[in-house]
Amino acid sequence: MTQFGLGSSERVVARILAPMSYQALARKYRPQRFSDIIGQETVVRTLQNAIEQNRIHHAYLFSGVRGIGKTTVARILAKALNCVKGPATEPDNVCTICKEITEGIDLDVREIDAATYTGVDSIRELRDVTQFQPARDRFRIFIIDEAHMLSQGAWNALLKLIEEPPPHVIFMFATTEMQKVPATILSRVQKFTLRKITLDELKARLRQIAGAESIEADDAALEIIARRGEGSVRDALSILDQIIAFSGRSITAADVATVLGLSDTNFFARLMTLVGEGDHAGILEALQEAAESGRDFKLLYRDLLNFVRNMLLISAGGKADVEGAEEVARKFSYSELLRIANLLMRDDDVITRAEHQRMAVEIALLKAATFPRLRAVEEALSGSPVSESRGGAVKTNPETSQPRDLETFLERVQKARPLIGGYLANAQGSKKDNGISFIFNDTYYADAVTDARDALESIAKEVYGAPVTITVETAAAPQAKKKPIGEDPVLKAFQKHLGGEVVEGRRSK
Ligand SMILES: Nc1ncnc2c1ncn2[C@@H]1O[C@H](COP(=O)(O)OP(=O)(O)OP(=O)(O)O)[C@@H](O)[C@H]1O
Ligand SMILES: [Mg+2]
Ligand SMILES: [Zn+2]
Repeated sequence: MTQFGLGSSERVVARILAPMSYQALARKYRPQRFSDIIGQETVVRTLQNAIEQNRIHHAYLFSGVRGIGKTTVARILAKALNCVKGPATEPDNVCTICKEITEGIDLDVREIDAATYTGVDSIRELRDVTQFQPARDRFRIFIIDEAHMLSQGAWNALLKLIEEPPPHVIFMFATTEMQKVPATILSRVQKFTLRKITLDELKARLRQIAGAESIEADDAALEIIARRGEGSVRDALSILDQIIAFSGRSITAADVATVLGLSDTNFFARLMTLVGEGDHAGILEALQEAAESGRDFKLLYRDLLNFVRNMLLISAGGKADVEGAEEVARKFSYSELLRIANLLMRDDDVITRAEHQRMAVEIALLKAATFPRLRAVEEALSGSPVSESRGGAVKTNPETSQPRDLETFLERVQKARPLIGGYLANAQGSKKDNGISFIFNDTYYADAVTDARDALESIAKEVYGAPVTITVETAAAPQAKKKPIGEDPVLKAFQKHLGGEVVEGRRSK
């Protein structure tokens, strides 16, 4: 930590003192009034107007990505409706009712986490409860969080309640996945879509909270944190938490970079080397270390993608702005990198939304690491290493003139259609007379190549000087059939990682 110079002794003190009275910023700064909420003006105004005009609905649905205020809005609305001085456009936050709702102990305002409350029976129970008058408050309010987790049976039971709402009962649903809410429910609730918070709004919020916490933060530091928040106030605040734990009361962009692992290129170089070597166990070990050091896997994956992008840039003859990428890039051919980048980018979305992000990252990397087996096919085919720059001794075989022919074609495709070129590197290709056939293991690639067939045929015509027909097929991996399932490297790596025995093996086609 020497690079931080003067501040380091203060930081040590801060790190020792911090845990004693530390409350997560997101909790400490949860808005308690509508006017404290940032970024959701339309939603707030609509709700306040409805309260003013006494048009109170009996079922609301708040949707939007994580950490943008869905639960917060629901709780404030519950207070505004039930407050001793209400229904009012703002809760007073001083009466017993407001206080109890804030603390989560009001008997008439119940928060239900649908993730642990999915059964029909519990909803039936809920139906019984709703038959009674509120114990004290104006309304009996049910805030159903993570509503998309409810079972079909639970929704059906709820539907009856929403269709014939008992008097004084209000439902508020919150969900990140509105598309999973049945249409019959959607048509009977008042829907509010909360939006992501803009970068500037996030920055301003961070600045405000840093101020309230007497934390000195430079603008660049807040900018990085806000960016990493990706529209979510909670994510931005928990990053700020991590950084305060690391650097104490004064935060610089360098601190942020260190904590977020922005400069941790060694780790990515190691990870990509393992991917290149097809070392599944090694990959899982490296990720285990990352987990132990408290890395956020979503951020880790983003950074890794950035690293791979830089490798790709270098491989294509460009210059990268990430240290260490060059050496690793040399271990791959351009088409291999394209294929890996494609694969990782395809999973980016999956990982962002995945519940078990670590496992999602593990699976994505293990998938990427299965390529050496494919590389062998590619090389056998082309008779030479695809890229000059790749290290390692691969023998060329000048006698195989047909594959050589094909290589010229593949190189041309790679230049004209890099993406398709990357996909083709993933196939078993062969040329016979006036036809070239590609056999893929993956229909995803096969479909993309089929779509590009016209373009490929015109390139082939240029290369060979005569019309060529291209055929695309999908087949099961030939290697997959030979080995008993227990020998499967992915399975073995998982076994090593998680322990246990392979009891039953099944392969998806
Ligand atoms: N719009 C906002 N304005 C101010 N702070 C916010 C806002 N949204 C979220 N926060 C902060 O993030 C924390 C979490 O917010 P909240 O629980 O309302 O998010 P959510 O949208 O319900 O997320 P999830 O989908 O994860 O349940 C709050 O305690 C608050 O500190
Ligand atoms: Mg919530
Ligand atoms: Zn009140």
